This record gives sequence, structure tokens and C-alpha cells, in this order.
Amino acid sequence: MKIDEVRKIAVIGAGDMGNGIAQLGIMAGYTVAMRDIEQRFVDKGVATITGSMEKMVSKGKMTAEARDEAMGRLKPLVDMEVAVADADFVVEAVPEIMDLKKKVFADLDRFCPAAAVLATNTSNMSISEIARATSRPDKVVGMHFFNPAVLMKLVEVIKGVDTSEETMQLTYEISKKMNKIPVKVLKDSPGFIYNRVNAPTGLLLSKLIELGKPTPSEFDAVFKPFMAMTPFELIDYVGVDIAYHSQDYFSKTLSPDYTPGKAFKAMVDAGTLGKKTGRGFYDWSAGRPQIDVSNPTTEFEPTHMIALQVNEATKILEEGVCSDPKEIDLAMANGGGGIGPFTLAKSIGYDTLVAKCNELADRFKLDVFRPTKTMAEGKIEV
Ligand code: 3HC
Repeated sequence: MKIDEVRKIAVIGAGDMGNGIAQLGIMAGYTVAMRDIEQRFVDKGVATITGSMEKMVSKGKMTAEARDEAMGRLKPLVDMEVAVADADFVVEAVPEIMDLKKKVFADLDRFCPAAAVLATNTSNMSISEIARATSRPDKVVGMHFFNPAVLMKLVEVIKGVDTSEETMQLTYEISKKMNKIPVKVLKDSPGFIYNRVNAPTGLLLSKLIELGKPTPSEFDAVFKPFMAMTPFELIDYVGVDIAYHSQDYFSKTLSPDYTPGKAFKAMVDAGTLGKKTGRGFYDWSAGRPQIDVSNPTTEFEPTHMIALQVNEATKILEEGVCSDPKEIDLAMANGGGGIGPFTLAKSIGYDTLVAKCNELADRFKLDVFRPTKTMAEGKIEV
């Protein structure tokens, strides 16, 4: 299928990611069916889109007429078959449970037109495995947005083993039409680029959850001056359950070092999931939390986190997930904001970062923190 043949997009799931992607679709001029399993989830998705569009109108980023016209192209519904029957392009954004994704893709394969491309917004999981639930693996692709989808610029376009070049190109072009910065990921590997680079920092945070010290606010206080959202606040924003499921997936696919601990699991079991439930590491009941910066920990500093990110980014290079350090920096700078890891490494110096990785590997007895050969050589040019 070619870009000008795409008229209707279906988004499966109206949660944080689904409604953001649906909003991007209508703003790009498409008719978008947004489907969820219950009317109340669909209604909540529509309310979020309405609020976001209202914000844009009040800031003068969109006219009220353009908003009304775009909202007129949004088709919220519960019936899956009706939602996708005439869709040209589908984006799945359901919870990160492999069996659920496979079931959704088997249904999509049955109900969608034969020519439709089926994209998954999975954060980490194998595109190739999801594709095997369909009879059209050449038309299955990863299309990974970042939260909040409406604002974060990066989209990772991920090739499964059977994804065709045509499917990759179409997904790349639709991402551009949605005003995003797409980066192609040519090897289907857990966490792709962005979430893989952040996997060891997530692991470090999860070790601190188990230790209970430093507390989230003592830790976050160190990062408040440098980041749009501090590390524990960001987990709350994205979802404690999402962070937990990611780490669990990495424990099965990357290293048992990632096995999540009991305190982390207890938060998920208790429904303390962050922003969406009103409480996680912080209280979100009255909106974005105020981070108490009065008592920053002296045990950790930003270079610890940067060291782990740079080290993991070198693994991506070594494994051939992405062969260009500039592309990795582009992805990292646009997925969450900030400066790419290799650019940071150049200014900080690889020797300092290698020492930080070794310090953390010794302290937490985790091999995944050990510096790679590429890291130790410290010769990456960006
Ligand atoms: N719709 C439209 N506009 C919105 C909006 C929305 N939903 N939310 C915020 N805005 C606008 C605001 O109106 C404001 O506009 P202005 O600049 O014209 O005033 C601007 O965006 C900034 O918003 P705020 O002032 O309310 O708040 P912040 O300055 O803190 O920005 C943020 C909010 C953009 C979310 C920022 O905190 C941020 O960049 N956080 C980091 C997010 C991040 O790292 N995301 C990646 C997570 S990892 C992931 O998603 C991977 C996945 O697989 C799990």
C-alpha cells in the first residue's frame, strides 16, 4: 500500500498511548476508529483527546474550526470487527502481554482487509513473534510512540524478520505525516533502541525500590535541575505496571539480572500504578507531584545514569540493532527529550563513565552494568 491510499486508521486500545495515537491520526487528516473493550474506556479516551485539543486551541496552536473538523473524523467504538473492517492501517496499543497481543493480531488478521498494514505500539516485545499470529507477517511492523504521544517526537519503526520494505516505508511516511521523527530499527531486539538504552537505569531504580533507600524523592531531587521529569516521577507518569512488565520481559529475553523484586511487584498488585490510579511513588491526585528537593541523596549523581545508558547504547551497536551512533542519539534525544548518550559521553569522557559502570556492577553485583569492550575503548564518534 502507498501513503496516498491510506484513508482510515484504526487504533486498538484507547488508553494513554491509544488515545494519543488516535489524536495524532485525526490531526494528520485521517479518519480514525478508536476501539476499546468497554464503552467507559472509549469515553475516557475521547475525553482525553478533547482536553488535549482544547489545550491546543487555547494556546493558539490550532483553530477551533480545525479542531471540530478533526474531531468529526474520530470514530470511537467497542465493536472490533466494525472498527477495522475498512481500515487501511491499524495501530495496536493494548497492554503489554504477549498472549493478548497475539490474540488481537489474530483477530485483526481475520477482520481487516487483506491489504491492511498492522502495526504494534509494543514498548519492548518481539515484532516477529506477534507477526506469527497472522497470515500476513510481511505487513506487520513495530510503530513505537512515546508518552505523551502527542508531544514526544520519536517514533521507532521496527522491522520484524518478515516485515517487507514497503511496510517499513509506509509506516515511516505515516509517522512523518503525524509530524514525528521516525527512526528505523532494522533488528527486532528487546526494547529496540530507546527502552533498551534505558533498561539498566530502570533496573537501578528497581534495586532502589527493593532497598527502600534512597527514597524516590531523595533520588529524584538530584535530577530535578536537569530533567523535564525526574526518574521515579517518569515511572509514575508512564505507569508502574508498564515499567514492571518491561523489566519482567527483559529478565526473560536479555538477562536474569532484570528479574523484578518483591516490592516492585507489590506496587503492581496493590494497584499503585502512578498517575493513572492517582498514586505511585508520588501522590498524583491533585495533578503533577511536587518533588521535595530538600534532601538529595549523595550516593548517586547524573553520571551514574548516563554511564549505564551509554554502556547499553554500545551493546546496541555491538549487536547490530542500530549501526549508526548518530541514529541512537537522535532516537534518545527525541523519545524523552535531552541530549543523546554518545554526545554526552564525548563531553564527560569514557574513562569516567567506565569507572561509574564498574562501581555500580560491583555494588549491585549485576553483570549487565559491566562496561562493554566498545565502552572501554571509548572511541565512538558522533
Ligand atoms: N496535549 C496538548 N498539549 C499538551 C499536552 C497534551 N496532552 N500536555 C502538555 N501540553 C503542552 C502544554 O500546554 C504546554 O504548552 P506550552 O509550552 O505552549 O505552554 C507544553 O505542552 C508543556 O506542558 P506543561 O507545561 O504542562 O508540562 P511540562 O513542561 O512538564 O511538559 C512533558 C510535559 C512534555 C510531558 C514533559 O514533562 C516531558 O517531556 N516529560 C518527559 C516525558 C518522557 O520522557 N517520555 C518518554 C517516556 S518513555 C516511553 O514513553 C516509552 C514507552 O514504551 C513506555
